[in-house]
Amino acid sequence: MRYFQKMISKESIEEIRSRCDIVEVVGSYLPQLRRRGSTYKCNCPFHQEKTPSFTVNDARQIFHCFGCGAGGDVFRFVMEYEKVDFVTAVSLLAERVGVEVVYEGGGAPEKSGNKDVLFKLHSDAALFYHRILTDSPDAAEARRYLQERDLPPEMVKEFQIGHAPNEWDGLLKRALKKGYAAEQLEAAGLVVPSERDGKTSYYDRFRNRIMFPICDHMGRVIGFSGRIMNKAEKGAKYVNSPETLLFKKNRVLFAFDKARKAIVDTRQVIVVEGQIDAIRCHQAGLSNVVASQGTALTENHARLIKRYADEVVLVLDADAAGVKAALASSEIFIAAELAVRVATLPPGEDPDSFIRREGADALFSRVAEAPSALDFLIDAYQKQDDVGTEAGQMRVVQAVLNFIAQCSSAARRDQMINHAADRLHISPKALEHDLRRTLRAQLQQRSAHAAVSESVQSPKPQKTYPREETALLELLVHHYHEVHPLVQEFLPPYLLSDPTCKKLVDILMLDPPETLTDGFHEHDEETQKVIARVQVEESRSIDAETTAVELVQQYILIFWKRYIECEQAALAQRTELSNEQRFKETTRLRHDLHSLAKGWDNARPMLEMRLHSDVDF
Ligand code: CTP
Ligand code: MN
Repeated sequence: MRYFQKMISKESIEEIRSRCDIVEVVGSYLPQLRRRGSTYKCNCPFHQEKTPSFTVNDARQIFHCFGCGAGGDVFRFVMEYEKVDFVTAVSLLAERVGVEVVYEGGGAPEKSGNKDVLFKLHSDAALFYHRILTDSPDAAEARRYLQERDLPPEMVKEFQIGHAPNEWDGLLKRALKKGYAAEQLEAAGLVVPSERDGKTSYYDRFRNRIMFPICDHMGRVIGFSGRIMNKAEKGAKYVNSPETLLFKKNRVLFAFDKARKAIVDTRQVIVVEGQIDAIRCHQAGLSNVVASQGTALTENHARLIKRYADEVVLVLDADAAGVKAALASSEIFIAAELAVRVATLPPGEDPDSFIRREGADALFSRVAEAPSALDFLIDAYQKQDDVGTEAGQMRVVQAVLNFIAQCSSAARRDQMINHAADRLHISPKALEHDLRRTLRAQLQQRSAHAAVSESVQSPKPQKTYPREETALLELLVHHYHEVHPLVQEFLPPYLLSDPTCKKLVDILMLDPPETLTDGFHEHDEETQKVIARVQVEESRSIDAETTAVELVQQYILIFWKRYIECEQAALAQRTELSNEQRFKETTRLRHDLHSLAKGWDNARPMLEMRLHSDVDF
């Protein structure tokens, strides 16, 4: 994308940081924060827990959760808690302490890419499309379409439904005239660039479509979904805004802003798939309905819902894909400690058609009588599988176990176990026994996964770092002057396996630990977490008998051992070596490992040899 966000000046960031006390800021969000010894603790707001592992370190102005690995400075806390980007977090805190944000080069933020401008642009675009629909002679077909679909003017107004004119530059022309730049429209996803003869021109993304504005939970328009009116026309049935600075598909739920009050009142959310389904439900008086807009529901959706509700009712198609989607979504909600029920509709119906055919009350009762997700799961298996057979029974049991294993509350797992055992005619004890095995297997899978893949981003369990590598970083941070020379001399960065740890050791070889916290926000999120963690986690392994230097020596030996063992493994692969060469190398490596095993004083000459000779194996 080609827009640029004007940067807040470094001085401004530091000034705001220095005026915010992290204990005070976090405490204002989490009143349960209490002093415990030299730090502050409470239950972590970023994951479910019963004993506090969320820690705020006053002296270092950093937070870290030992449970889920979240961590960072005061800006990071606000970003995560408020779910906002860095610039917004800084602005929020600036406001709090009454400091003006100063941008790089001075002055106000540049127009393009600035969130405020994008919000304004979306709001203007929504109004533009809406006015076309209500007023323009060219939108007669669109109005007729909505009439045919029985979407009355009050709904069109409430949801600010619009019409994108059948032109290549309807919106573009209009927005340029209002003073927006084409780059801003592109950043908003409203126009698409096209290159021809080395020149960039733009055209409207949405043409001749019914436009549904998509709002964030505060009711600000952040994107659009455009529906085709004529089946015969070519093109996708729906065209949606791309991911932009504002529009994150896996966070937003259509109509959440309009449903929010009813959701808070009922502590319940009803999730349907389509925008028109949601609008129809609102029209029928079901006000706590939101739409997933046809995408898979994610942890982010669950987190949003969890802030306002205790229960989710999914209303989904009864076809096979619908059942599968319902089960996948249920697992995500169960994991977020939400109660989940699943309502099904007759084949071929969606909430919109169902309400039109059978009336709102019919949908009300489907929702009221919807079985729990667990029952829905068992029903689904019993319908498709021959539960009479042993294999069928095993399949349903395993599916039930996988499902229950998502739930982190032991009490709820217990309830589900009892209920499932009853329905499947198994003893709860046996089921529980198997559940423990499933939980163990999942845990192993997760840690294996975390160890192997560095780059998997999306629904991530806490990334685990090699214990020795974070411990070394801790020692470097807390005992820099004693241990720095040792690491400098004996620990070349290639001995470390984790890229983040490696990078931080690299930095610490050049600069003292203060630089890590000073330029904190310049690091990526993962790096920030590790910094926070090693800052907070005063090395526990140091005691009266072992000094920091001795510990670092031990770690250096461990890293070398790991490295030389890799060399051994590599040697086995080297088929080009003669027997004699192989023997020589094998002996050398064995000898080196032997020196390592005998402790620092013995190993040191060998390490010096290796580090200072140019012979590279
Ligand atoms: N969807 C989409 N892109 C598509 C098809 C669907 O983004 N090509 C999303 C839309 O948000 C849509 C939802 O998935 O509202 C459900 O799709 P579907 O059931 O096909 O449409 P309906 O909402 O029922 O729309 P309609 O009643 O107009 O057919
Ligand atoms: Mn429909």
